[in-house]
Amino acid sequence: MILVTGGAGFIGANFVLDWIATEGTPVVNLDKLTYAGNPDNLASLRGDARHIFVKGDINDRALVASLLQQHQPSAIVHLAAESHVDRSIHAPGEFVQTNVVGTFSLLEEARAYWGALTEPAKSQFRFLHVSTDEVYGSLGPADPAFSELTAYAPNSPYAASKAASDHLVRAYHHTYGLPTITTNCSNNYGPFQFPEKLIPLMIRNALEQKPLPVYGDGQQIRDWLHVTDHCAGIRTALHKGRIGETYNIGGNSEKTNLDVVHTLCAILDDALPSHAPHAKLIAYVKDRPGHDRRYAINATKMKNELAWSPAEPFESGLRKTVAWYLSHQEWVNNVTSGAYRNWVETNYANRGTA
Ligand code: NAD
Ligand code: DAU
Repeated sequence: MILVTGGAGFIGANFVLDWIATEGTPVVNLDKLTYAGNPDNLASLRGDARHIFVKGDINDRALVASLLQQHQPSAIVHLAAESHVDRSIHAPGEFVQTNVVGTFSLLEEARAYWGALTEPAKSQFRFLHVSTDEVYGSLGPADPAFSELTAYAPNSPYAASKAASDHLVRAYHHTYGLPTITTNCSNNYGPFQFPEKLIPLMIRNALEQKPLPVYGDGQQIRDWLHVTDHCAGIRTALHKGRIGETYNIGGNSEKTNLDVVHTLCAILDDALPSHAPHAKLIAYVKDRPGHDRRYAINATKMKNELAWSPAEPFESGLRKTVAWYLSHQEWVNNVTSGAYRNWVETNYANRGTA
């Protein structure tokens, strides 16, 4: 039994599905179901006793304490977070509340639970904190990729809130001995990603023949990793990672945003030739404030210590992802009704051109 937080979100849902398919042991899934959480992501587990869904907030300490007591998990895999950089620019408060205070609350309850465990459960317990490469800030074109030794330099409220949570996790290991492991991962893509993020947003807009809003000059670089590779990386770090360590997880797949959008357009041209060329929809819009120019992960530690490497090449992963969104348009319609429209208005309506 493990406790997963944020398991109804993009990576969390993929992780729960992957865990039950590969490990087969039960998962308690604690998720607040914010706009980004969707129980439909786990529809294939309906009726499966190995998935216990609990709607709730990681800040609800009484709830977390009772779940730990009741289910006696051997690990907590902490994914719950506010995750979108643009939203953190418009409304940072929720990011501090969930990512910083929420992680603190979870750590406190984990410490109390772990402190009362007896052997061998106590030695076996792990707190795995899922974090991001954004804590390291922005790279120049010739800089080496982020390693676990790169100094923290978060630039957005989102990145700062994740950096703060990483520091709390580190301190709980250093001070109290809590058996923690932190993973810092690059940009994920794949099924169930909410269409506020670059790839699913571009797919959705292209299908609706709407502009494809590229921030600034589109030359920012991200290191793309298919979500299934990230899930395998988290499982590997949980099983084999050294207590108190951090591990960088990345795709060895640096692309400019413009390259990603052009590749998406080419894939969509093949799938929907009557709407080709989709690239005619590309629109340069005002840049994101404080926009990080380049992220790249050096995942050598994961490879050398834990024998993990990414398996899915970006081009095939992107084709599979486009195919998933084309065959799940009802999912897209469901998650983009209502409040999504307000977000699109907030982020894009007054943006103007680059
Ligand atoms: P997401 O926004 O899709 O999902 C977040 C989930 O957390 C949602 O289901 C939401 O309902 C839940 N949640 C939010 N606040 C909560 C709270 N207070 N209590 C309980 N549940 C709450 O995010 P994601 O993209 O799946 O990211 C998951 C984790 O991975 C985050 O910690 C994020 O920082 C990290 N990460 C994401 C990426 C990426 O590319 N998406 C890369 C590296 C790391
Ligand atoms: O690097 C890991 C991080 O990747 C995670 O920690 C975050 O949770 C996740 O959201 C992601 O952050 P990014 O800001 O890199 O992802 P996003 O999809 O929002 O944007 C990717 C790039 O595309 C970024 O340079 C901004 C740009 N962009 C994004 C959107 C939504 C555009 O040009 N236009 C857009 O409309």
